[in-house]
Amino acid sequence: MELTDIDLCDPGNFVDGVPHGWFARLRHESPVHWHPDPDGFAEGFWAVTRYDDCVGVNRDYERFSSHRAGTLFNDFDDDLLAQQRMMMLNMDPPMHTRYRRLVNKGFTPRMIRDLEARVVASTDAILDAVCESGAADFVEHISAELPLQVIADLMGVPQDDRHLVFDWSNRMVGANDPEYQESPEAGAQAAMELYAYADQLCQEKRLDPHTDLLSVLTHADIDGDTLSQLELDMFFLLLAVAGNETTRNLISGAMVAFFDHPDQWEKLRADRSLLPSAIEEMLRFVSPVMHFRRQAATDVVLGGQKIAEGDKVLFWHISANRDETVFADPDRFDIERTPNNHMAFGGGGPHFCLGANLARMEIRVMFDRLLDRMPDIRPDGQVQRLRSNFINGVKHIPVAFAPSAPVGR
Ligand code: HEM
Repeated sequence: MELTDIDLCDPGNFVDGVPHGWFARLRHESPVHWHPDPDGFAEGFWAVTRYDDCVGVNRDYERFSSHRAGTLFNDFDDDLLAQQRMMMLNMDPPMHTRYRRLVNKGFTPRMIRDLEARVVASTDAILDAVCESGAADFVEHISAELPLQVIADLMGVPQDDRHLVFDWSNRMVGANDPEYQESPEAGAQAAMELYAYADQLCQEKRLDPHTDLLSVLTHADIDGDTLSQLELDMFFLLLAVAGNETTRNLISGAMVAFFDHPDQWEKLRADRSLLPSAIEEMLRFVSPVMHFRRQAATDVVLGGQKIAEGDKVLFWHISANRDETVFADPDRFDIERTPNNHMAFGGGGPHFCLGANLARMEIRVMFDRLLDRMPDIRPDGQVQRLRSNFINGVKHIPVAFAPSAPVGR
């Protein structure tokens, strides 16, 4: 096979599994690789696949801009790009720094700690709903539910409105997979409904603030600087997408990894003190976000390759996290791996995942409860993967386990 046969644009090439063999070849033979894309605005992009180069792109915001063309694979027309740029993910410093300082106010370690009891209760309720039957679709019934509940808790969405937020989130994600997305218009419509709802919810929080994130953010003020209603709406939207699909697919992908490596599950069952390093290995091994995009803000040389100002650059977390020069035997799932400086949450640049510690807590609680309540969980049918080159996702995992009584928290 020639390097020119590698096609990272077609989401269909990720359905049977991540093409790790292709990424290994690119890391060895063409680590900063010109990849044609006849459907894009600019005929192609640079695919960056080595760990050091990916970290470099992620940190060097002056030369690799998030704002110029956004951070997603798709090229947007001017109107859509203007909308995308209102999200912090698609800003560069200093605009990003201002925004991040404001939202940090609502994302303190204390707030995350305070959420833990709710996360445990949500997890138990989710497992209660299926534990007596002895079988479930792990994605639909277990992993998809928790992040949605947590985001609703975090934002202070009243219980009665949660189904609305779940529905909007689900309609906005999985854009390339026909099972989830009826049309791009349906996604846009869901976003509009979410904005209208966020407007109304913020209004309520202004009058009657609580301790939730949205209450904190509607009142956040740093030296007279506050967030506008539109900025609040965009943040709500970003969280509904960023905190949802990522965490769901980490939990799902890690479950599949344990099915493929039952010795690691037994090891974790026997010694729960391994959970923290197991979580880092789940993140490295699954890498739910497979790439992000930047746009060269100036002519630059990366990995010996000349990149021109305005070129599109995709850096692949999924490949960096399997770089054999950084991770020994990278295709092995090893819950005791150390060191494990993966870049599943980013490479330490200004956009480093705001929800990293929240996500770690959700993953810890979920696997802790699964190990206690469903220690014999096992595959019970065909795993179906998401059709996407962006999210390393799983749609269905039929599982079986010994039936047990609900704990009824
Ligand atoms: C396993 C779960 C998760 C993964 C793998 C993940 C991954 C990422 C990655 C790769 C980035 C971009 C980092 C960069 O470019 O440097 C990011 C940014 C972000 N994530 Fe996460 N994320 C996860 C969970 C969450 C959760 C639970 C939330 C919130 C509820 C969240 C909120 C955000 C936000 C707001 C940003 C943008 C930060 C900025 O632009 O400054 N993420 N995440």
